[in-house]
Amino acid sequence: MDKIVIQGGQPLRGAVSISGAKNAVLPVLAATLLTRGRNRVTNAPRVKDVATMLDLIRDLGGVIESWEKDEVVINSEPLKKTEARYDLVSTMRASCLVLGPLLARLGEAKVSLPGGCAIGARPIDLHIKGLEALGAEIHVNEGYIHARAKKLVGAHYCFDTVSVTGTQNLMMAATLAEGETVLENAAREPEVSFLAEVLNQSGAKIKDAGSDTIVIQGVSSLEPIDCCIFPDRIEAATYLIAGAITGGEIEVQNCFPNHVEPVVLKLREAGVTVQTGDGVLYVKANGPVQSVNIRTQPHPGFPTDVQAQFMALMTLAEGQSVIMETVFENRFMHAAELKRLGADILIEGHTAVVRGVKQLSGAPVMATDLRASASLVLAALAAKGETIVSRVYHIDRGYVSMEKKMSRLGATIKRVK
Ligand code: UD1
Repeated sequence: MDKIVIQGGQPLRGAVSISGAKNAVLPVLAATLLTRGRNRVTNAPRVKDVATMLDLIRDLGGVIESWEKDEVVINSEPLKKTEARYDLVSTMRASCLVLGPLLARLGEAKVSLPGGCAIGARPIDLHIKGLEALGAEIHVNEGYIHARAKKLVGAHYCFDTVSVTGTQNLMMAATLAEGETVLENAAREPEVSFLAEVLNQSGAKIKDAGSDTIVIQGVSSLEPIDCCIFPDRIEAATYLIAGAITGGEIEVQNCFPNHVEPVVLKLREAGVTVQTGDGVLYVKANGPVQSVNIRTQPHPGFPTDVQAQFMALMTLAEGQSVIMETVFENRFMHAAELKRLGADILIEGHTAVVRGVKQLSGAPVMATDLRASASLVLAALAAKGETIVSRVYHIDRGYVSMEKKMSRLGATIKRVK
């Protein structure tokens, strides 16, 4: 298993280019199953989760005609299977995004229940209830969700909790349902609006995605997808924090600054200079950062996917920071590892109290999930001495060549086998 070895202490300087958004490309790849023909997706990040989604589509009978550089071509015409296998779903929760498209197109879907994951129980009960509202008959047995519907029928559905992939799953299913579907308390993440735009370009009739009420008029078929994935806002935020935590100066290129605004506002509150331009963000540290409090929330609140990285920054801030995680119930696994580097963190339920220390020092640490691993890399870049991060396959799930990008910014970082 690969490890990442970091000698901390260098301020990072230079420019970094942001790759396509993992959380935008996964639902788009799932949406190709709604179409019949050759779909083309560009600016697709070369990360493990994309490879897993392509394996799943291939297993269902879709043909991955090519995946060269950042362009994927998928022929979804010959779809023949309706079962998403346990081994594929268990490695990536987002595999459940095929449920809605399979059901809408083939009238049947059998998708393994994702089970628990490192950051909490993460059930998919809301996806199931929503599909039932659209007329699907659903049974759960032997670890699989069996869904059947001769024809989905539009309905009014209100999510109990805001769910990003839940909203996307239902939106995709409703595009081919009969009549009108109204989704209330829908997720407002940019990845939801983007999916709606992509589907609309293929002939879907989706209104007001990006608001909390989405209205979908079902259509009889969709044209193949041809789209370019927008830049990853979580990756952009991670590099902004890399600049701030190492006392450096970084130009984050090829990003959508408005997508990163909740993080930018918190960085400014912490005393970091962040300037925005057209497709670019510029970050400059001004001495030690100040403690600020954060509370994660669905978009447009502070993203839970940046909580771990921001906590790394707060470990070196002047003062005490209170971090509340309201989206997931168990998303503080990185805290114990950050403590191994010398951080002072107290966890009480959904709240972490971080008292800034003057310095972190390198140590062996273990990545527990995707964003937790990024937070360990960030802390290690600022720590004195050597840190070895193991289980970096978590990083590879969602960050394109993180060690190469950090190295180009002047970090002493390498991957070892
Ligand atoms: C997506 C993102 C993930 C991000 C998360 C929250 C993708 C591929 N992943 O995950 O990176 O951290 O949004 O921004 O886009 N819930 C239920 N029942 C359900 C569905 C969700 O109780 O049926 C709960 C979850 O356990 C969690 C909360 O709702 O506590 C939000 O989860 P959700 O928005 O669904 O996360 P994902 O879509 O899985």
